[in-house]
Amino acid sequence: MHHPELHRFTPDAPLAQSAHHLAQELLGPDGARWIHSSAVAARAGEAAGTFPVPQRPLLLAAGWLHDIGYSPTVQDAVADSGPARFHPLDGARFLRARGWPAELAALVAHHSGAVHVAAVLGLAGPVRAHVVPAGLHPVADALTWADQTTGPAGQPWTLAQRLTDVLDRHGPDSPNARAHAARLPDLVGAVERTEQRRRSLLRPAARGAGTA
Ligand SMILES: [Fe+2]
Repeated sequence: MHHPELHRFTPDAPLAQSAHHLAQELLGPDGARWIHSSAVAARAGEAAGTFPVPQRPLLLAAGWLHDIGYSPTVQDAVADSGPARFHPLDGARFLRARGWPAELAALVAHHSGAVHVAAVLGLAGPVRAHVVPAGLHPVADALTWADQTTGPAGQPWTLAQRLTDVLDRHGPDSPNARAHAARLPDLVGAVERTEQRRRSLLRPAARGAGTA
């Protein structure tokens, strides 16, 4: 039996830290998803400095929580709202039902081009019900970048390695494979835009610090 109060968002607590704890409870401590999610959160931290301070915890929290929809606890908990068994949507629904910020749930719902896979599954509508505000599109890009440049065991990977692995694991008839052509430009775009942000916003700061 699942108790919704158990995983409720506490507005006074730091968002990223609360997200870390929730991810650990749902995925950790030994599972591959936990290792991957920890690495994605760390990777997200490498882009966080390119964003205004108030947006940074949102990116880190989304890194921790993007894959909680794979947790059996989450799948059981969202079964009442129609078991999507689509991890971005299940994760987003779980978070909203427990009072976590709508922007965070939307980042989870849309991570890594999820709407394209959702379209193959007939779930594009429910995914689009979670709206990433335009001002957070670069944060959504950074989350996708962090996820797509981190392998399943938390190793640093290129987007090409990640795509090959996903298609190998899920098979040629999988929703992932069927969504691939539509989804690819979004993934490539998110990775390129984030790399560009890091080049333009992080290096000058590092140089400045070096000569100070
Ligand atoms: Fe995911």
